[in-house]
Amino acid sequence: MFVLECSICERRAGPHDLLCSACGELLAYTLPTDIRQVPLLQTFAERRLSNDPRDLSGVWRYRELLPPLPEAMMTTLGENSVPIYTAQHGAAYAPLDRLTYLHLGMNPTGSFKDAGMTVAISHARARGARVAVCASTGNTAAAMAAYAARAGMTAVVLIPAGGISTAKLAQTLDYGARVIAIDGDFDQALEIVRTLDPVKVAIVNSINPYRIEGQKCAVLRLLELRNWQAPDWIVVPGGNLGNTSALGKGLREAHQLGIIDRLPRIAVVQASGAAPFVTVVRDGTTMQPVRANTTATAIKIGSPASWRKALREIEITHGTAVAVDDDQIADARAIIGRDGVGCEPASAATLAGLRLLRQHDVIAADEDVVLVLTGHVLKDGVYAATYHESAAPYANRTLSPTTPAEVTALIESLA
Ligand code: F0G
Repeated sequence: MFVLECSICERRAGPHDLLCSACGELLAYTLPTDIRQVPLLQTFAERRLSNDPRDLSGVWRYRELLPPLPEAMMTTLGENSVPIYTAQHGAAYAPLDRLTYLHLGMNPTGSFKDAGMTVAISHARARGARVAVCASTGNTAAAMAAYAARAGMTAVVLIPAGGISTAKLAQTLDYGARVIAIDGDFDQALEIVRTLDPVKVAIVNSINPYRIEGQKCAVLRLLELRNWQAPDWIVVPGGNLGNTSALGKGLREAHQLGIIDRLPRIAVVQASGAAPFVTVVRDGTTMQPVRANTTATAIKIGSPASWRKALREIEITHGTAVAVDDDQIADARAIIGRDGVGCEPASAATLAGLRLLRQHDVIAADEDVVLVLTGHVLKDGVYAATYHESAAPYANRTLSPTTPAEVTALIESLA
């Protein structure tokens, strides 16, 4: 039977509810108890040979672990069939013996949001919603706009005016969303969205439990590519903390189902100007919102909505949370580029955070670590170009020889 429950008080909720009617906390989907009878890994493996759109999606391929959906309502762009990469430069920078990137930026709209959005929009469509709404620092906006377009729904996005990258805004407009720029930050935009009636419009920020179900599949994709061998650590950037809660839920369920034999530890990395969760984890206090400030605009969030859920996952996995400066993020991003991979700034907080955790000996050199790269390098080309024109340590400035002879001499000097 299909069940949403409160993530804190466990009270049951209806399939279209957004918050617990008793305590106001976020909801979560509970797996059915009969799931153990399905030979899951064999089923997932067989589907990798199929060209059925449900099987080509790295979300719907694991559909036994998702809230049930009538097949005709599925809205997919073939999301979450993402790669893992070995990270030579990243490993040396940490330093670690070896390192892996899980690149969720290799999704249809260039970020991890697609995995959540395919589930949220499909379920919104199934219940007849015509309008999908979110507040966003850019990636949720682009993903929602694309999936809403596919589903024939109207997308409405609230963004902080001047606060998101040009590429993300351009994508969102291209996919036909109505974009409302507010004179405020992400936290204020989300506050406005939370005043809307969830019966009238589908609210698809990560407070929506269906989003979390899709995003938990990033863990399943990672484990599938590793032949169901769990790493020691998974390092993830933290903003609103929906993704931390999703990855934790995915790991817990995989462990409960016997798909993996141990739980990896989760390390959350926030930008130091937007790090209220780091304080929560360090001091054991409740979350005190801050006015967020960081050049990693994707994670410029001062009042993370999913902090309670995320804290639970950090506690269960014996994880941690650290903060890194904007300069450290910028350098780490350039290093990830040298691996021929590339990512947007928020994603690179993972490598900067890993480096810090190595310095403090929280992670040992021989541990098996996966960095979750959440967005594609082209998501913020202006940031990358500006870095490379600067005097930063890993800047790769454009060369400007003046004569053809100088050009050839320069090229030959590199041979
Ligand atoms: N990385 C990127 C590239 C993001 O876009 C976000 C969040 C995060 C990390 C943090 O994930 O919020 O689940 O902790 N972006 C949201 C948006 C807020 O609107 O696109 P989180």
